[in-house]
Amino acid sequence: MTYPPESDLGEILITADQIQERVVALGREITRDCADSVPLLVGILKGSILFTADLMRAIDGPVEIDFMAVSSYGDATKSSGIVRIVKDLDAPVAGRHVILVEDIIDSGLTMTYLLEHLLAQGPASVRTCSLLVREGQQAPRVQLDYVGFRIPPAFVIGYGLDVAQCYRNLPYIGVYTGS
Ligand code: IMP
Ligand code: MG
Repeated sequence: MTYPPESDLGEILITADQIQERVVALGREITRDCADSVPLLVGILKGSILFTADLMRAIDGPVEIDFMAVSSYGDATKSSGIVRIVKDLDAPVAGRHVILVEDIIDSGLTMTYLLEHLLAQGPASVRTCSLLVREGQQAPRVQLDYVGFRIPPAFVIGYGLDVAQCYRNLPYIGVYTGS
């Protein structure tokens, strides 16, 4: 049996090797930018788990991680427009240098909401990092400090990204062609 079934997977946009190469480069950038501080990577569950795990290994210096979980899409492939915090941070971020780590920016709504949520807690700084940015009619309305790849307007799966919780374990990023 092929996994995913042929009906669900279209073009592979980014191979596992390309992802790893880019993550290493992002890790170098963050290492350089955070030479004088211990950054706190805040991974946005669940989509950013693989990216956060690989990114922290690509940082050559002290780094801490925490996670937040939000829900905005339900099981559909279109945004509901509502962001809900399902799991908040374990520890306060006051005085910390925070890097928000997201899987993909579409409308930018999720990242904008989380940025405001964290900024209200008095961190020393908050930077934003997203593995993917989907290019579309409307440019993402959020400032991004680190970006992995820009992708065409298609719904994608793999490397943490899901459709109805499936396909997060694929090592590459491919276009979802199911229904
Ligand atoms: P935004 O709030 O519109 O920027 O949407 C971002 C969130 O939607 C991400 O955190 C993902 O969880 C989800 N999302 C957006 N596009 C995709 C996709 O192509 N595949 C899987 N999840 C996606
Ligand atoms: Mg997500």
